Amino acid sequence: MLSLALLLASVYLALATATNPISTPYGVYNSSTTPSSFPWNTYNYCNAPHVNAEHYSKPSVEGAEMVYMNVMFRHHKRTPDNVYPNENGLNPAAGWNCSNFIQFNYGGGTAHVNHQVVIPPSHPFLSQIWNGTCDQGTLTQEGLEDAIKHGQDFWSVYHDAVGFLPTVNPKDLYVRTSVSDRTYQVSGGLLYGMDPAYAGDAFTVYTQPTNIDSLVPDYDCPLADNLRDAYQSVPAWIDHLSANAALQTRLGEITGTSNLSAWTSWYDHYFDTFTSRTCASHPLPCNATTGACVSEEDAAAVFAIGDFEYNYIWNSAQNASTYTALTFGVMFSELAANFRSFEDGTESYKARLYVGHDGSMIRLASGLGLGKIAPLRWPALGSEMVMEVWKADEQNFVRVMHEGSSVETLSWVPLSEFITLLESQVPPDLYNTCMNV
Ligand SMILES: *[C@@H]1O[C@H](CO)[C@@H](O)[C@H](O)[C@H]1NC(C)=O
Ligand SMILES: *[C@@H]1O[C@H](CO)[C@@H](O)[C@H](O)[C@H]1NC(C)=O
Ligand SMILES: *[C@@H]1O[C@H](CO)[C@@H](O)[C@H](O)[C@H]1NC(C)=O
Ligand SMILES: *[C@@H]1O[C@H](CO)[C@@H](O)[C@H](O)[C@H]1NC(C)=O
Ligand SMILES: *[C@@H]1O[C@H](CO)[C@@H](O)[C@H](O)[C@H]1NC(C)=O
Ligand SMILES: *[C@@H]1O[C@H](CO)[C@@H](O)[C@H](O)[C@H]1NC(C)=O
Repeated sequence: MLSLALLLASVYLALATATNPISTPYGVYNSSTTPSSFPWNTYNYCNAPHVNAEHYSKPSVEGAEMVYMNVMFRHHKRTPDNVYPNENGLNPAAGWNCSNFIQFNYGGGTAHVNHQVVIPPSHPFLSQIWNGTCDQGTLTQEGLEDAIKHGQDFWSVYHDAVGFLPTVNPKDLYVRTSVSDRTYQVSGGLLYGMDPAYAGDAFTVYTQPTNIDSLVPDYDCPLADNLRDAYQSVPAWIDHLSANAALQTRLGEITGTSNLSAWTSWYDHYFDTFTSRTCASHPLPCNATTGACVSEEDAAAVFAIGDFEYNYIWNSAQNASTYTALTFGVMFSELAANFRSFEDGTESYKARLYVGHDGSMIRLASGLGLGKIAPLRWPALGSEMVMEVWKADEQNFVRVMHEGSSVETLSWVPLSEFITLLESQVPPDLYNTCMNV
């Protein structure tokens, strides 16, 4: 079974590099639980494999001791970020349920205000949204449960097995998120999973102002936009859209998105609206008027194209590495500064945790060179990159764990070399380079 799975994985990798990206991608897209007949570290879009006690080994270096770490995560399962023009008709009658955990937002010292979305049946714009109690891009209860389990697994390794993190406390752990509710909520789930004593206690996480946030990332970079526009105007990109024109027509007719450029210029929105549904055990969209439903085969084709597009935009296109460095350079410089301050002895935290988005994870993976080993796939929900620092023979080494497994090119690199790698992803004079186009 294992060798069959490996064979399928290598077939997938071979197909992913072929010109037509359509092929059934190897992996799981409809459950947070990877079937036990698959290897534990199988790509699971709904819930990425991550570091856990059962499959973790310490470096096989005599006397190595863990001394520092930075980790980046993607949030867990959520409702679709994108909505179809006539969203209501493309969902089951009950729609989406987000009233199964409490959504808090209150000023300290005041009433514990929380909010619940209401969608009145009489709303004149009801056609634009599903029924139920969810907004777009809202963490679901199952996503919160996955985050808690993720925190438990993280603790099973870095507290129980390695003994590196003694307790969950804001002096040892620095947590940064984006300004999305789902990243706050996932960080709360992770911390609670690490230490259930944290139920209901305050824990400060750090954010940057939206217009300069380096984690999403959200800062402006017109030079990067121009580069990307250019490499999405050449055959290496356009060919995959024309090769899949029939698929696009079918999807457009069922979901009412024909000729809407946000949907037709790439497969991002179909990928989002299909995977959000399949990961939550909702049916693929069905058109109530025509009765036509998106087929499993077409959804699988969209998943494969999504991988192709993510790899192309952030990794393989000519100028993709410049685009990634420009748009994530601020984050790479923050990471480099963290490791440098550890090296200098001025870092006061034992670990820095970042809870971001797919755009954070794909840029981090690309900038660290993972896309030179194999094509990058769309970062799954709960995707994880752990940058561990170990001390051995009075020297510091970095080991990077991606989706729970050690990265072959970064399994034991001197800390100074790792800092150089991070700094190599920071274009000089970044603000002026981005802005003066
Ligand atoms: C998930 O998808 C796989 C492959 O398409 C299918 O075999 C399996 O039955 C599905 N599982 C669920 C829970 O729908
Ligand atoms: C959503 O609720 C409204 C009002 O109750 C109803 O008319 C509509 O059919 C529901 N949507 C679906 C997809 O069933
Ligand atoms: C949503 O989930 C909660 C908790 O499980 C349940 O009480 C409620 O009835 C659900 N709402 C709908 C509309 O299904
Ligand atoms: C990449 O950038 C170079 C230099 O700006 C430019 O000449 C080239 O056309 C770009 N390639 C693509 C595919 O956009
Ligand atoms: C259903 O299909 C028709 C014909 O393609 C389309 O006009 C309509 O917008 C679709 N309905 C929804 C709810 O998207
Ligand atoms: C989409 O555009 C094509 C070409 O302009 C046109 O033939 C077709 O009717 C349009 N489809 C819809 C649903 O508007």
